[in-house]
Amino acid sequence: MRRITRKAIMKFQPYKTGKPIGEVKRELGLKSVYKLASNENPEGPSPMVIKAMEAALAGINRYPDGGCYCLKDALSGKLGVKASNIILGSGTDEIIEIIGKTFLEPSDEIIVSKHAFIRYRMAGELMGCRVRAVPMKNMKHDLAAMKKVVTKKTKIIFIANPNNPTGTYVNAGELARFFKGLSRDIIVVMDEAYYEYMTAKDYPMTIGYVKKGARVIVLRTFSKIYSLAGLRVGYGIAPEPIISMMERIRPPFNVNSVAQAAAIASLKDKGRVKRCRARMLEGRRLLEKELKKSALEFVPSEANFILIRTGNGRKWFDLLLGMGVIVRAMDEYELPGWIRVTVGTQKENEKFIRAIRKIVNEKN
Ligand SMILES: Cc1ncc(COP(=O)(O)O)c(C=O)c1O
Repeated sequence: MRRITRKAIMKFQPYKTGKPIGEVKRELGLKSVYKLASNENPEGPSPMVIKAMEAALAGINRYPDGGCYCLKDALSGKLGVKASNIILGSGTDEIIEIIGKTFLEPSDEIIVSKHAFIRYRMAGELMGCRVRAVPMKNMKHDLAAMKKVVTKKTKIIFIANPNNPTGTYVNAGELARFFKGLSRDIIVVMDEAYYEYMTAKDYPMTIGYVKKGARVIVLRTFSKIYSLAGLRVGYGIAPEPIISMMERIRPPFNVNSVAQAAAIASLKDKGRVKRCRARMLEGRRLLEKELKKSALEFVPSEANFILIRTGNGRKWFDLLLGMGVIVRAMDEYELPGWIRVTVGTQKENEKFIRAIRKIVNEKN
């Protein structure tokens, strides 16, 4: 295969997904298993969204609207940008890949943070580019250090805000300083997958940069607070010339018709985002209180997950799995001593708390 496969693919490490509930139940013979591994909203979609999906099911003999006209229209009204500033994808995951395929030559470089969401690095590696991974400062993107490694070859800088898995964010002032003097030939991708969970007053309003025509691509998703992770819908917002280049290679029917209907209905479900955010904040406070009590170090998070230092992430992953709680070990993120837990429902959070108490007590 080496002879016929692209060199970049031979070196490529595939993405490891969180363990599915069914698999853990089968493997360990457990009746109840809680998945706190992939930063999903623990609440399922509302009845209104389910009704919209059911209605769309009757039409799945037809291809979906390839241009996602109605969904783009709804998003453009909500965001105050033109439909031509939006691209839809099968999750933002696909959009990250489309960005790489549209703009990266093998001679280009991309810049990421060392512990940033891993799909950016993969997008660069897929295209055979050099990936410059910059150490973080206090588990936060070190924007000054990232700017220092810019060269003539830099094509894209990826910034997850807040970042997965650290949960930290860069504020409006820090971002403004970062943009000052940055070459206009560089595309900055602002991944805001957890945007709707943010409460910080100084969180940057990045769509303003897009409106001014800056080379910025903002990413948002229906997978997190909107509870549609299994349907795969995400979107990018950018100046028209950027979107039109990406549209050239977007697969024609990449967002299915049920997903489009669900996403449109989700946007109409007005109070739900606020309610889900409030519940998540309550759950996160509970988990943080418990971590302090258990003397476990964690990174204060702005998102719906917490990065926790356990000493040995793999071991804790296995111990928690044995008790029916799936978390994420962080060795892939070069954080072998850490795990990441998603804030779940009250019942799930309490189960996680009982499990970590047991591990901590047995250790002492
Ligand atoms: C920072 C970040 N960006 C993008 C994604 C991918 O989301 P999607 O489901 O829209 O592909 C995730 C998923 O966990 C994420 O954490």
